[in-house]
Amino acid sequence: MSSALNRGIEARRETHPLTWRIAAAGGEAVQTLSAYEALEGFAALKKALTMSPEDIQKLVKESGLRGRGGAGFPTGIKWSLIPMGPESGSKYLICNADEMEPGTFKDRLLMEELPFQLVESMVLAAYAIGAQTGYIFLRGEYILAAQRLKAAIQAAEKAGYLGKNIAGSGFSFELRVHEGAGRYICGEETALINCLEGRRANPRTKPPFPQQAGAWGRPTIVNNVETLCNVPDIVLRGAAWFKNLAQGKSADAGTKLYGVSGRVNHPGLWELPIGSTAEELMALAGGMQDGLALMTWLPGGASTDFLMSEHLKLALDYDTIAKAGSRMGTGLIMVVDDQQDIVKVVRNLMVFMARESCGWCTPCREGLPWTLKVVDAISQGKGARGDIDWLKEMTRWLGPGRPFCAHAPGAMEPLQSAIKYFKGEFEKGIRS
Ligand SMILES: Cc1cc2nc3c(=O)[nH]c(=O)nc-3n(C[C@H](O)[C@H](O)[C@H](O)COP(=O)(O)O)c2cc1C
Repeated sequence: MSSALNRGIEARRETHPLTWRIAAAGGEAVQTLSAYEALEGFAALKKALTMSPEDIQKLVKESGLRGRGGAGFPTGIKWSLIPMGPESGSKYLICNADEMEPGTFKDRLLMEELPFQLVESMVLAAYAIGAQTGYIFLRGEYILAAQRLKAAIQAAEKAGYLGKNIAGSGFSFELRVHEGAGRYICGEETALINCLEGRRANPRTKPPFPQQAGAWGRPTIVNNVETLCNVPDIVLRGAAWFKNLAQGKSADAGTKLYGVSGRVNHPGLWELPIGSTAEELMALAGGMQDGLALMTWLPGGASTDFLMSEHLKLALDYDTIAKAGSRMGTGLIMVVDDQQDIVKVVRNLMVFMARESCGWCTPCREGLPWTLKVVDAISQGKGARGDIDWLKEMTRWLGPGRPFCAHAPGAMEPLQSAIKYFKGEFEKGIRS
């Protein structure tokens, strides 16, 4: 896995908070506690335990870190919404490691190659929010990550970094891996919480937000793997350092694990300053394979809107990509080339999205399979007159605010943007 990481760039401690340890270990996974400790492992936790939880929250807020799970919500603000103080009682920290978004494989790398980094990040975050129990909600197919994380948890417990009275601080935290059974909806934070509790994995009404009433009705913070893995270096090196990592490329802060998949020469994953461009990424990926040209691209997984070649120069950050009519999502680009059939690409994504509807709300349960049926007919040249207008109408009915959660709106993003940019291709599939 790491061979596909950072090819062509040098990951340094000063500039690559997420991946410098892999580079320092010669491109290998850092799997033992001693190897991790030799690379400043747990130094941030030791420092954090001398600070107050509120000071850490403040630092994370000042750093400008935004959630890397897709929505980009500011992490420090999320943490500050959790009740603190002696009366706040039991609280939970959940790491969202479900990563079932097609085209997305960044969290897997962090967990397989740097399991102790996630463990340290979680102890530190738990201290900052006053959580006594934590779960890593892990995609079931990530077998290697599960093995390595469990081994890291065991070793950290033995060394006193987890469990009761961590490093003599009086703070106690228990951490467990929960392996999912393979539903995309379990990545949605409230469905995830239901699943963890042993209930049917459907999303919950918000409010109340998990920060007020999450797992077992208690205040809970859910954060993505990559989000959490940034926290130790923010504590060690400071908020200003983290902000500056963006190097003027973006109003956002830090770095981002960006990736490219599709028919490029070197698909892979790179840690770059946030706000780097898709053009830079495409260069690192070695450009399109011989004889192929870029037709279109998804900026951040299968539930974002397509963008075109003219967008390659834009900063890949939350606000810039939103202004261009899409979303940064997970930041892992999926490239579609000119030999592919865009209607079939959309159909393929829709098969996944319709299958993964949890069935809780009618618009999503009924709307996605119907949408698939119509896209499928068009892809086979059997579309009926009026189908394209009907699909456009459906993108409004299944758009933000109408279904119960963000699954169906996300599912419609590739479709709505494909119709916007490639209407002619859809028209070719309508029977005259
Ligand atoms: C259908 C669906 C699937 C999702 N899957 C994931 C996922 O696999 N990993 C993730 O971190 N966030 C996922 N999210 C977003 C989470 O609900 C939540 O916003 C995120 O875990 C918050 O963490 P962050 O603030 O650190 O980004 C998903 C959302 C939806 C609607």
